Amino acid sequence: MHRMTRAVTERSIDHIATLAAQPSCGDVGAETLSRSLREAAPEEPSPLEPLLDRLFDEWIPRSFTAPGPGYLAYIPGGGLFPAALADFIADTTNRYTGVWQASPVLVQLEANALDWLRDWMDFPRSARGLFTTGGSMANFNAILCARERHLGTDIRRGVMYTSTQAHHSIAKSARLAGVFADRVRSVEVDESFRMRVEALAEAIRRDRAEGLIPFLVVSSAGTTNTGAVDPLEMIADLCAAEGLWHHVDGAYGAAFYMAPALRPLLAGLPRADSLTLDPHKGMFLPYGTGALLVRDGEALRAAHHVPHAGYLPTLPDADEFYDPSLHGPDLSRGFPGLRVWLCVKLLGAARFRAAIAEKRELALDAAARISRIPGIVMDAEPQLSLFAFHLSWPGATRDDENAATRALMDGVTARGRVMLTGCTVDDRYLGRVCVLSFRTRRDRIDACVEEVAAEAATLLERV
Ligand SMILES: Cc1ncc(COP(=O)(O)O)c(C=O)c1O
Repeated sequence: MHRMTRAVTERSIDHIATLAAQPSCGDVGAETLSRSLREAAPEEPSPLEPLLDRLFDEWIPRSFTAPGPGYLAYIPGGGLFPAALADFIADTTNRYTGVWQASPVLVQLEANALDWLRDWMDFPRSARGLFTTGGSMANFNAILCARERHLGTDIRRGVMYTSTQAHHSIAKSARLAGVFADRVRSVEVDESFRMRVEALAEAIRRDRAEGLIPFLVVSSAGTTNTGAVDPLEMIADLCAAEGLWHHVDGAYGAAFYMAPALRPLLAGLPRADSLTLDPHKGMFLPYGTGALLVRDGEALRAAHHVPHAGYLPTLPDADEFYDPSLHGPDLSRGFPGLRVWLCVKLLGAARFRAAIAEKRELALDAAARISRIPGIVMDAEPQLSLFAFHLSWPGATRDDENAATRALMDGVTARGRVMLTGCTVDDRYLGRVCVLSFRTRRDRIDACVEEVAAEAATLLERV
């Protein structure tokens, strides 16, 4: 075990140490390699070293360098090292954290981590939470709570509302929760890509008039396309007046609420009935940790309530002690709380607040400088740490602009220092920059601005 662990940690730490020098997007044109790897389960054992060689030297590099400093694509990943240590401990000790009685003290650590998230988001003490595998599953559980609370068994008449810019996990989660596509309204957005509240109110009115039951609004605290924050306060008011559940998808953006100076950007967030936040985004953890907070913790418990299984122990005091299996769909599970707990204990909350505020500063700086590059037109200023733009020139058609902006993203990425991806909103292709990795510092923002300027100049020379 010592030998194997040494071999793995040496490789892993070397890998982390060279992240900054790795191309920001690995060579992912790997169909042939992927095909060549298909094999039947081996009958005979293999030594570890050659497997590690192939993993670290051949296979891991054939991927997006998502934990690297130059990854400004999609929503950047994290990868705090102590989380890996927490997983190692969790996996080697392999204690059962599905039910409270099996590991009461360990489960308490997870409950503490959820309480920290609750406090940072200004949620009340009545709130309960759940660690999930990611934001998608947090959104799913939120929709389930709202459905259970507001519709009971009358699911088919229930209608939910979100914006045209909502993450696609909302539509998927709705379906999983038994709310079919014809009961999910995509409300239009304003010129800053934020949900139009008057259009939302109108949609609710129309559905009520048709005998349907509006029950849920899902707003975004930072959309994936352009980083737009919906008018959370106004939506909270409307939901209160209409008696609807308000879920805020803060998978990308909620972590910014940790920094007191940034709270006005997310005003109204703590009024949500439920909130998705993703420690594997804004808290910089490795992939595999999402979280959900539900203001009235009883609603989360009710959504997962079934008659007690006769072979399981009973919880002594369900109000005082947290039991993961009473708050979510999983029974046997890993120990996601330990990753969060250990990272916060080792680094301290202040460090997280400072880091998230720094990412916003870097994004503001990048946006200001990129907006001054000839040919760049800003479409979305950074509300948090994400902004969007396109390339234009006199006489360009929409198709020309879309093709050039796509070429800009690809060209910058091909240069290797930063990886950028765009998105399509209506008929426009938008270039994007999202700053969220804890490893992204000023030097990489400088590189990003240089590469966008150089690539834009090359593209404009050709038109
Ligand atoms: C706004 C938003 N919601 C939900 C999700 C889904 O989260 P996950 O990928 O953790 O399932 C994402 C992912 O990027 C997101 O940006």
